[in-house]
Amino acid sequence: MAPTNRAAWTTAEKAYPLEVKEAEYTHPVDNEIVVKVHAIALNPVDFARQAMGSRLFPWTKYPTVFGTDVAGEVVEIGSQAAGKYKIGDRVVGLGNGLESNRPSDGAFQEYVVLRGDLTAHIPDNVSYEKAAVIPLGVATAASGLFTDDQLKLDLPTSPAKPTKNEWVLVWSGASSVGSNAIQLAVAAGYHVITTCSPKNFDFVKSLGAEYAFDYNRPTVVSDIVEIFKGKKSAGAYAIGFTAAKPVSDIISQITEGSKHVAASNMPPSDLPEGVTSKMVFGSALKNSPLGAHIFNDFVVKGLVNRNYRTAPEPQIVGQGLESIQQGLDTLKAGGLSATKLVVTL
Ligand SMILES: NC(=O)c1ccc[n+]([C@@H]2O[C@H](COP(=O)([O-])OP(=O)(O)OC[C@H]3O[C@@H](n4cnc5c(N)ncnc54)[C@H](OP(=O)(O)O)[C@@H]3O)[C@@H](O)[C@H]2O)c1
Repeated sequence: MAPTNRAAWTTAEKAYPLEVKEAEYTHPVDNEIVVKVHAIALNPVDFARQAMGSRLFPWTKYPTVFGTDVAGEVVEIGSQAAGKYKIGDRVVGLGNGLESNRPSDGAFQEYVVLRGDLTAHIPDNVSYEKAAVIPLGVATAASGLFTDDQLKLDLPTSPAKPTKNEWVLVWSGASSVGSNAIQLAVAAGYHVITTCSPKNFDFVKSLGAEYAFDYNRPTVVSDIVEIFKGKKSAGAYAIGFTAAKPVSDIISQITEGSKHVAASNMPPSDLPEGVTSKMVFGSALKNSPLGAHIFNDFVVKGLVNRNYRTAPEPQIVGQGLESIQQGLDTLKAGGLSATKLVVTL
């Protein structure tokens, strides 16, 4: 008999607060698995969808279940996922509800359906809370760094590829997307220059960045242009609402290599001459073998080999589905640094 399930529902466009109530338990088909959720990480997109309704993803059908990031244990396995997973496996994965429009695929529930190719096994020494910070961060980082219409870098491996003389700029290295982008670029053999608050310099360097600059420093653009001299650019990742402008200014002054800026948010239309930029769709990797390479291969081996780690640090904001709304409110209020809010179940 299927277990009972509960979800934190968004019952209608812009409905507030989320409503915790019963949800159908959905059996997995094909490449899907069902995961009993133990930890859920919260992302800016979750409160943005709630606040902006159809202005953000107009195809969303209501009622629905938001959320992308879950860690938990496998309880049921679709026929094509049987070779990869067994009951009781500890996993972390990317909920696909935003695209599938199925409430069963949203992270904010007790039993979620995940795609086997967008799920990673986690080693015993990594807690569910730590693992839950991975999915949208690593997916958005990888979609910006490796897809054909963005930076198109060589793929990351574990152990890391030998380093080549090509440099990537990651603006906002202490963010969730940024701390994953640094690690992925380094594992793919690139050098990384990044920006963050000075208190996070050690953190971003521990992830593999070679230079860290304070994004608030008035001379940050010219400082980074100076560092780039004599180095070949592999492109830049502009992370955050205000990042694309300074990043484009820097990249426009680079003399050798790529002048493409992958942008986590909408880039400005008036880009400097020679610079190209495009907004990243965080789950673009799911449409190609890149999704499986990152989730089934790189993350799994990287956690074991320790050339990839869960980042940023989780901050437990509550227990139970009832805590999710409060967590989203806290995230929306801003001010968090190198931290990802997590709710445990
Ligand atoms: N396109 C997509 O599919 C997609 C997917 C996910 C996220 N996003 C977007 O990507 C951005 C990052 O998301 P996230 O979840 O990674 O964010 P996050 O982890 O919540 O980011 C927080 C970090 O941002 C840094 N920060 C704040 N102001 C900054 C500035 N002016 N310049 C550089 N860094 C700054 C802070 O660094 P310090 O603490 O060092 O100051 C802080 O640690 C958001 O704008 C989000 O909407 C887009």
